[in-house]
Amino acid sequence: MKFFIDTADFNEIRDLAATGLVDGVTTNPSLIAKSGAQFLDLIPRICEVVSGPVSAEVAATDFDTMMAEGRKLSKIAKNIAVKVPLTPAGLKVCRTLSDAGTMVNVTLCFSAGQAILAAKAGATFVSPFVGRLDDTGQDGMELIHDIVQIYRNYPALKTEVLVASIRGPQHVIQAAKLGAHVGTLPPAALRALYSHPLTDKGLSAFVADWAKTGQSILTEQ
Ligand code: E4P
Repeated sequence: MKFFIDTADFNEIRDLAATGLVDGVTTNPSLIAKSGAQFLDLIPRICEVVSGPVSAEVAATDFDTMMAEGRKLSKIAKNIAVKVPLTPAGLKVCRTLSDAGTMVNVTLCFSAGQAILAAKAGATFVSPFVGRLDDTGQDGMELIHDIVQIYRNYPALKTEVLVASIRGPQHVIQAAKLGAHVGTLPPAALRALYSHPLTDKGLSAFVADWAKTGQSILTEQ
């Protein structure tokens, strides 16, 4: 399973990219607003520190303006994935950009039917929002299960399931068990994956016991 980072905080992206665990980045207008960054300055900087797909979302909702924005964003770097909403106009933009060789991430997917449309429109990624579905009392992971199963029935489809709106490690683990291609993780969710109290406890014991031996691995023999 590939890990994308779901943030527009450049320092977080740079720090997490250094872990070697980051395969891409997703941003959206809300994350840009929260970061206070200038979108057109930020995206090229992200593309410099992360070589995998970097999702940059269009701001318009009509076809012509989304196309103009998408074309402009796609010229920023080779690893840009233009993010478009799952609307009739958004999917038309998806088809056009995808046919021109641009990666497209179709966002705001909340049903298996929408995911089928995104795949037919040539999306590189479809982004089902699991956390937002859970928030409404629905089961976000059931949607991931359905989309993964449907896409598997059609091996010629190249669209990857990008699990979005992840809230924590359990979402990541469940998505991986279902075989989703990608999860986009808020930085806190990625950091939480490292943690287990028995790891901390075990490491403290190993450090203490090693100190008792008085040895150093780096001492020349
Ligand atoms: C990523 O592509 C999505 O925009 C993001 O995961 C949405 O997350 P949220 O539901 O926490 O805003």
